[in-house]
Amino acid sequence: MPAKQSELLPFLRAAVRNPNVIGAVAPSSPRLAERLAEVVPSTGAPVVVELGPGTGVVSAAIADRLPEGGRHIAVELDDDMIRLLGRNRPDLELIRGDAARLGDLLAACGTDEVDAVVSGLPWTLFPPVQQKRILNEIVKVLTPDGVFTTFSYLNAYPAAGARRFRRMLRGSFDEVLITRTVWRNLMPALTYVYRRPLHDRLA
Ligand SMILES: C[S@@+](CC[C@H](N)C(=O)[O-])C[C@H]1O[C@@H](n2cnc3c(N)ncnc32)[C@H](O)[C@@H]1O
Repeated sequence: MPAKQSELLPFLRAAVRNPNVIGAVAPSSPRLAERLAEVVPSTGAPVVVELGPGTGVVSAAIADRLPEGGRHIAVELDDDMIRLLGRNRPDLELIRGDAARLGDLLAACGTDEVDAVVSGLPWTLFPPVQQKRILNEIVKVLTPDGVFTTFSYLNAYPAAGARRFRRMLRGSFDEVLITRTVWRNLMPALTYVYRRPLHDRLA
């Protein structure tokens, strides 16, 4: 079910070493990756930012959709994942850093406007202050027509942390869409698509 057998072991190793950063036991399945990548504009020259690319399964789905001339910038915190991505996905503009500093990281590579943010971050592990900080950074860099997508494991959907995060998101975007469950994933997952960032509500 995961993208490649060769990515399972490095992912699992990173998850055991750093459970509070990785937040999953396996990479997303290709089906979930495709679903997340659906927000990537397939025409023009979009700037797409991926947060927490991990072993790169979602990166591959984004690259499949991205038109020539588009930019795909990925922000990753874990050193082992960075090394793996450097080998497996040389096409990525890879930044080692914390998504909580997204604005500064993008400014350093000459970008301050983003068309789509695709997140693989383990949001429910983050304390509220960190969720809010990263979310504000995302809202700040998105264009008015920009789109943000993320996923939640179905089993975590009712958790208090997940509910609080969804409330935070509803206060930051004008439109929220929740997709059908992706059953072919460990664990089954939902994706959320948020459009029209509310720049005037930034805390
Ligand atoms: C659940 S894994 C998802 C990996 C991949 N996107 C996928 O779907 O298979 C979470 C990823 O987010 C990264 N991560 C966690 N906190 C981060 C942060 N504050 N900034 C950037 N990356 C972070 C982890 O290192 C890990 O690679």
